[in-house]
Amino acid sequence: MQRTRYRKVEAEVPQSYPFHGPRQAGVDSPPQRFGTFAAFDATAANRAALTDMFKALTDRARFLTAGGTPPDLGVGAPPSDSAVLGPTVPADGLTVTVSVGASLFDSRYGLTKPSGLSAMPTFPDDVLDPAWCHGDLMLQICANNIDTVHHALRDLTRHTRDGMQPRYRLDGFGSPPRPAGTPRNLLGFKDGISQPTAEVVWRPDGSSFQVVRFIRMLVEFWDRVSISEQERMFGRRRDSGAPLDGSVETDIPDYGKDSDGKVIPLDSHIRLANPRTPKAESSRILRRPFNYDRGFQPNGTIDAGLLFCSYQQDIARQFETVQNRLAGEPLTDYVTPFGGGYFYVLPGVHDNTDHYARALLT
Ligand code: HEM
Repeated sequence: MQRTRYRKVEAEVPQSYPFHGPRQAGVDSPPQRFGTFAAFDATAANRAALTDMFKALTDRARFLTAGGTPPDLGVGAPPSDSAVLGPTVPADGLTVTVSVGASLFDSRYGLTKPSGLSAMPTFPDDVLDPAWCHGDLMLQICANNIDTVHHALRDLTRHTRDGMQPRYRLDGFGSPPRPAGTPRNLLGFKDGISQPTAEVVWRPDGSSFQVVRFIRMLVEFWDRVSISEQERMFGRRRDSGAPLDGSVETDIPDYGKDSDGKVIPLDSHIRLANPRTPKAESSRILRRPFNYDRGFQPNGTIDAGLLFCSYQQDIARQFETVQNRLAGEPLTDYVTPFGGGYFYVLPGVHDNTDHYARALLT
């Protein structure tokens, strides 16, 4: 079985991803350095207008992800492009991943809800802010540079203004390997080491399910915890990322040899998230996380955290099983989920005649 290549070497960063195909881009490829998660509510007057909106979104995403020279509309007209990226738009590793929330399937458009799609519930340790939850549509826009993300978002919203209205948005970034291997999150630990193969993500029609969770980190509080306590919370070393029973980040923890949790505590994050039993295999998820940092909170603490995103075939069987195992873990004292949602990732756009959500709308 081919393992998903998830860690990237800077020199190998792809400059473009194919737009057409059975599955959307931006899901099982390594996260680009920058991304935004922008949720929208559909405001299209009817099903035909909603179809037009998805067609416009498709056309613009097709152009932006390939790059090219925007048309010159003459000096008398508003320009066709913002020129934020210069006169020729580079692809710059851009991916646009479109998903839809359960609320799109209310009575407005008469659409049939994919089975397994529901609104994200409130989990025990959540403090959810309704303004930062759910949405009819989610656009995950990722690229090698932040200005490319901004440019794409600005272009996509410009061409779909009649059909969808912004709801919330959180920008994320990834770090280079420090000093090597898997990048670190803002708690200082390597994040994204243990990943399943991409088979756990895709459904037969090329669709998937996306879970987005905005998780604030109490970083000042965390910085006052001893390294050994931090490491016992995760079950891995802070410097190398190795499991506490190993020496390098790629070592596989052996829980069978440590059944009482003397080396890797039974309530550590990695042990709860993936107990590595045959039964737990069916709940594995592909994580594609970003960090976020958006200044100070009103109380003066740093407003930063994890923009958690996972992809899976089945939210109940995979994400919720993992999330429920993590309930009450020691790490919950240092992190607070405040937003996000569950979304159905539309199948890919097959060719020039196809558009997002065609199967749902016809
Ligand atoms: C702010 C919150 C979180 C932080 C800081 C965090 C951090 C980490 C770290 C450092 C690792 C170990 C390295 C790795 O294998 O990637 C890890 C592993 C993992 N985390 Fe999280 N995580 C968070 C939330 C979550 C959530 C909400 C879920 C899913 C419900 C989750 C699921 C996993 C899984 C499945 C693994 C891999 C376990 C394994 O296969 O050994 N994490 N996380």
